[in-house]
Amino acid sequence: MNREAGGTGTFVTGAGSGIGAATALAVATAGGRVALLDRDAAGLAEVADTIAASTGREPLRFAVDVRDADAVDAAVAEAAERFGGLRAMACAAGILRPGGLEDVTVEDWEAHLGVNTTGVLHCLRAASHHLADDGAVVVVSSNAARVPRTGMLAYAASKAATSALARCAGLELAARGIRCNVVEPGSTATAMQRDLWPDPEAGRRAAVEGDPAAYRLGIPLGRIAEPEDVAGVVAFLLSDAARHVTLQQLYVDGGASL
Ligand SMILES: NC(=O)c1ccc[n+]([C@@H]2O[C@H](COP(=O)([O-])OP(=O)(O)OC[C@H]3O[C@@H](n4cnc5c(N)ncnc54)[C@H](O)[C@@H]3O)[C@@H](O)[C@H]2O)c1
Repeated sequence: MNREAGGTGTFVTGAGSGIGAATALAVATAGGRVALLDRDAAGLAEVADTIAASTGREPLRFAVDVRDADAVDAAVAEAAERFGGLRAMACAAGILRPGGLEDVTVEDWEAHLGVNTTGVLHCLRAASHHLADDGAVVVVSSNAARVPRTGMLAYAASKAATSALARCAGLELAARGIRCNVVEPGSTATAMQRDLWPDPEAGRRAAVEGDPAAYRLGIPLGRIAEPEDVAGVVAFLLSDAARHVTLQQLYVDGGASL
């Protein structure tokens, strides 16, 4: 039996949209109890309704900004108390504002590090105080953490830091039997991706077929991921089926990082 069906729950950040929402739904559908965190209260309410409708169980939800360490601590502590423990955490909250060497603003640089990196630090630290000794964590980073991209300088740097942060934290958590893995998606059909592409069809074509001007090789599997494609891998890594897998950085990008 997947232990997600047991007595403790899974905390998912960025759960108001996209990959985080799909992860929460995947875990809940497998029988796990879920707590949702996002700064977007309306998105959270919508996702909570979807989960309640498909599982008959209302998830916990927290309208919190991951940059606020005290609020994250309080939300994770409340979820752990209500669940009677915490089995797993998935960190998917993130932002992307395009910009390269010449045009990235210091504000954008700091915003990426604040949300994508420091936000994950807050969540991992909060979770470590409550996670069961055989618990699991997945941090959603990006293939941009390891493959340079044009026009994504701050985002890629923040994700590289996040992947390293997660693996270092995971090394410490391994002493307690807690697993910590990093999922690095490529182009995925979510709000973040839609905002990046003013012309969706041209954006999709450049990602799938490749774009030499941007040094992109294309996606061998020939399509953009759906959020569920990434969520399925996150749910697997959180589950007992992956009980001997830790400290891994796994591309989920249709082969784009070949
Ligand atoms: N979509 C892609 O192509 C893609 C590719 C690689 C990695 N990712 C990563 O996947 C993760 C999920 O992104 P997505 O594609 O589902 O995008 P999304 O925009 O659909 O979801 C991101 C969620 O994070 C929330 N969020 C943003 N800042 C927050 C903050 N400060 N506090 C709390 N919540 C906050 C947003 O409200 C939103 O609900 C992100 O970390 C992103 O960097 C996405």
